[in-house]
Amino acid sequence: MNKIKTITRPRVICHMVSSVDGKIDGESLRDVMPEGEYEAIGEKLNGDAWICGRTTMQQHFAEPKPFVSKSKKPAGPQPVFVARKAKSYAVSVDTKGKLLWASGDLDDDHLICVVSERAPKDYLEMLRDRKISYVVSGKESVNLRNAVNQLGKHFGIRTLLLEGGGHINGGFLEAGLVDEVSLLMVPGVDGRHDISAVFDGMNPSRKAAVPLKLKSVDKRKKNALWLRYSVVR
Ligand SMILES: NC(=O)c1ccc[n+]([C@@H]2O[C@H](COP(=O)([O-])OP(=O)(O)OC[C@H]3O[C@@H](n4cnc5c(N)ncnc54)[C@H](OP(=O)(O)O)[C@@H]3O)[C@@H](O)[C@H]2O)c1
Repeated sequence: MNKIKTITRPRVICHMVSSVDGKIDGESLRDVMPEGEYEAIGEKLNGDAWICGRTTMQQHFAEPKPFVSKSKKPAGPQPVFVARKAKSYAVSVDTKGKLLWASGDLDDDHLICVVSERAPKDYLEMLRDRKISYVVSGKESVNLRNAVNQLGKHFGIRTLLLEGGGHINGGFLEAGLVDEVSLLMVPGVDGRHDISAVFDGMNPSRKAAVPLKLKSVDKRKKNALWLRYSVVR
């Protein structure tokens, strides 16, 4: 019998808070943000993992100082390392293996580091020593599609919450990996130039917006709106 092998990648929901003008700087939104709403909505999305770009992970979760490689020898292609299986995961995307982690646990979630083949060999050693899982995907930059497939295949992740910042969100959207956008729009205008937006850094030659289809609108505390869209393909 002819068996057809299909890898079903995790469903990706981009879950973000933004001002009315689409800006995502948490500091500027503090006073207009309904406390606990982002997290409460996140629970409803039933993700078994959340993922952030290197800048966001550095700002909020990783050790303050970066990893310094002794050998500076790129790891090259490497198999996936599963330190342990967990009920929920935190995933970082860090092309060159710069983020330093104290342990493999982050807010009760097991940490998975997605890096490219440029990450140093001793960076992966550090991760193994600290029982942190990793996925090496892509030569020069992280191959997001392959990485997401590996997360599904090796860790059983079915719903991945993409939680920013703007550049990693833009990378996922350009790679055709965002299935849904969950936006908590808070009643405030940031208005500053050069502040990260929900989706950022996409190809400047792109002339048309990525179309979305409205799924639901919910009025939340403090006059915030929870907007849910599916991405039209
Ligand atoms: N309001 C919200 O809901 C929310 C949520 C999260 C973050 N934020 C805010 O967002 C801001 C940071 O956003 P950001 O856009 O500057 O950074 P980011 O998206 O957090 O991280 C971007 C970095 O991720 C790495 N990366 C690896 N592969 C990538 C790929 N294929 N595509 C794109 N990036 C890739 C790159 O660094 P390397 O090349 O070094 O790997 C890139 O510079 C902060 O102000 C943070 O507080 C807001």
